[in-house]
Amino acid sequence: MKQPNNLPVIFCAIDTPDLNRAIELSKSISSAGCGIKLGLEFFNAFGKSGIQEIMDACPDIPVFIDLKYHDIPNTVAGAVHAISSLKPAYLNVHASGGLDMMRAAKEACAPETKLLAVTLLTSLDEHAIEEVGYKPDINKRVIQMAELAQRGGLDGVVCSSHEIEAIRNVCGDDFALMVPGIRPAGAASGDQKRIMTPQEALNKGATHLVIGRPITGADDPAQAAQNILSTL
Ligand code: C5P
Repeated sequence: MKQPNNLPVIFCAIDTPDLNRAIELSKSISSAGCGIKLGLEFFNAFGKSGIQEIMDACPDIPVFIDLKYHDIPNTVAGAVHAISSLKPAYLNVHASGGLDMMRAAKEACAPETKLLAVTLLTSLDEHAIEEVGYKPDINKRVIQMAELAQRGGLDGVVCSSHEIEAIRNVCGDDFALMVPGIRPAGAASGDQKRIMTPQEALNKGATHLVIGRPITGADDPAQAAQNILSTL
């Protein structure tokens, strides 16, 4: 199953400190028609050359590089320019870096790569939001930042499943919503607290789902991915 932009519905989170395991997982996930998400843990262990190794082993796999850049516009533009030479499907920055930073990032980004914004980390609750000096209305803030990301020319946001409908309403259909915290019915939630099934999240308007352990922790990851896709 592909989304309108011809990218896969599922980006599988490859959260492992073992490069060979990451390559094996990527191969089987690629065979099931999913993309992969590589984050800070992977990048800080294996760098750009580690990502390149996976891309060489799985030439057609769409990759979401999840490094959540947050710095001054010039620095973020330089980082985005450097990493987007790999031509990943998606990259991301923090919306709280501001409009000028997001515009600079978008300008520096390879045209083949879509740029997403992180609105607000879902690990922050109302209390933690207040502690860092923000006004404690998470929903309002997430929507404000999604709108700002859209004004900055970004292609979408990473958001929790509980924010999908509100963001879709204000940002319209042509805006990618990449949603983690997804669990197939009956799967272990692990440390995820507010979970949603793949079908529910898509019904609400998600474009892509980030799913990690329910696929990577299975005996046969390709089969696990196919089982999820068959429910959609
Ligand atoms: O294994 P699981 O499906 O929980 O993996 C979800 C992935 O999405 C992990 O890489 C996690 O760091 C990431 N993520 C998340 N919640 C967010 C943002 C990213 O779970 N709000």
